[in-house]
Amino acid sequence: MSNYTHIFHGTAFSSRAPKEVMILENHLFCVNTEGLIEKIISPADTDYQELLEKYQGKDNFHRLEDGQYFLPGFIDLHVHAPQWAQSGTALDLPLNEWLNTYTFPLEAKYSNLDFAKEVYEDLVNTLLANGTTTALYFATIHKEASLMLAEICAKKGQRALVGKVVMDDKEQNPDYYRDADTETALADTEAFIKDVQELAKATKQGVYPVVTPRFIPSCTDEALKGLGELAAKYDTHIQSHCSESDWEHNYVKERFGKNDAFALHDFKLLGKKSVMAHCNFLDDNDVNLFAETGTAIGHCPLSNAYFANAVIPISHFHSKGVDIGLGTDISAGATPSLYDNAKQAIVSSRMLEDGVDPALPQEERGVPKSRISLNEAFYLATAGGGESLNLPIGRIEENYACDVQIIDTKVASAKLPIFNVEEALYDIFQRIMYLVKPENIRAVWVQGERVR
Ligand code: GUN
Ligand code: FE
Repeated sequence: MSNYTHIFHGTAFSSRAPKEVMILENHLFCVNTEGLIEKIISPADTDYQELLEKYQGKDNFHRLEDGQYFLPGFIDLHVHAPQWAQSGTALDLPLNEWLNTYTFPLEAKYSNLDFAKEVYEDLVNTLLANGTTTALYFATIHKEASLMLAEICAKKGQRALVGKVVMDDKEQNPDYYRDADTETALADTEAFIKDVQELAKATKQGVYPVVTPRFIPSCTDEALKGLGELAAKYDTHIQSHCSESDWEHNYVKERFGKNDAFALHDFKLLGKKSVMAHCNFLDDNDVNLFAETGTAIGHCPLSNAYFANAVIPISHFHSKGVDIGLGTDISAGATPSLYDNAKQAIVSSRMLEDGVDPALPQEERGVPKSRISLNEAFYLATAGGGESLNLPIGRIEENYACDVQIIDTKVASAKLPIFNVEEALYDIFQRIMYLVKPENIRAVWVQGERVR
């Protein structure tokens, strides 16, 4: 029998497929030195009893208490870390005005590393407290502060993918907040990539540099081209905003005579390691291009409601084979919680669904078969995020990273209304997804290490 670094004992919920939640009741989850779930053992397996006897009572044996459950750690595919400092404010403006009046002046302040440290530490703590074990971050244009965000995640044990934002167009960006010029933008990005790849060597969970053109309007053609080349040279992830708002979508059409998706593709910014936020206005050609290139979507349902008045057709995109995960889009989405965004993804999808009045022709109201189920929303927050990033995360399965949140349904300050000892486990899962508060998240592990 192998020696394991940790053994967890209890009931876990994990996505098997978008519509299917797997319930592993009273299983043993055996974690190796690399922090991977090496073996999952059910009570019916022959070595179950033997393992229990060997590990029970030891420091590295973690038996869940009554009312506690394992969920995979959540994966946030779109967070603007600097904007945490304005979360919950300024949500009444249109996107472009919001960027210019609130967001760019705020992001400019991250030339100050003391300010950056204070906000970034608080954000990473907050995301971990909300069960987010992996985050794909936009930082700011500043190389030093962006590196500091990666260092803070490395130290706190969160798996992070971090981008130094590129905004080099002198016409489109304010003088007080843009890269000095294209060469500097590319040189800073390259130095940032090397620094983060070096930093990653000292982490167990991994931190990753991400090539990050803010969105097409903020970048020159030369910068977009150079960024595509850097991503290929260093084999990095890529992120940007794609077809988010009417204004931005139309701007790209005017500049390039094509949709965002095809313009990004021309600059080699789509691919298996690309995650594009929003994607509210993709047509079928765009969706097919995403599927062919392996480009994923960071779905931000709250932000889309506020800044784009839009709902993406998740079921349709899934049927075309596109990977989709969930993003908070802090601070265009005010909440740091992916639970809140999972719920909003369901609510928004129902708003897109066709009407229930059979007398109403479907053409006149809604898009048929739009609604997603709770299981699909859970998939977006977990396995869908892992698929989108092409990393072995987001599932409680063998050979996946041991990234878990331990949910306590009986914590005194936030007890869930579970009164019947016989309650079906699937009902408990649903209550967790709908009712959990940060107080219920008792512990968080990333790559087999307890981080909270
Ligand atoms: N498009 C360009 N920048 C941003 C940003 O910071 N937030 C959102 N939601 N959209 C953007
Ligand atoms: Fe965004």
